[in-house]
Amino acid sequence: MPDAVIAQRAPFAMAVEAGRKYAWCACGRSSNQPLCDGSHKETDMSPVITKAERTETVYFCGCKQTAVQPFCDGTHKQL
Ligand code: FES
Ligand code: FES
Repeated sequence: MPDAVIAQRAPFAMAVEAGRKYAWCACGRSSNQPLCDGSHKETDMSPVITKAERTETVYFCGCKQTAVQPFCDGTHKQL
């Protein structure tokens, strides 16, 4: 099975709204980063759904190697 591909070696800063759900692309193949656009169908991966608790800016992982999906944990610095 294909692995996650690196969309970018840095997080995506994104303004999220309290109560809204977001589908983070785990496979790295979406054209609508950092969110899923359905391109994972060619893999065995699925998006990670997260619900924003606050209206704020969050940092979604762009390298897809984070240990704390869907957010950046700094792992991209080692790639
Ligand atoms: Fe993936 Fe930071 S962008 S860990
Ligand atoms: Fe990557 Fe859906 S397109 S998880």
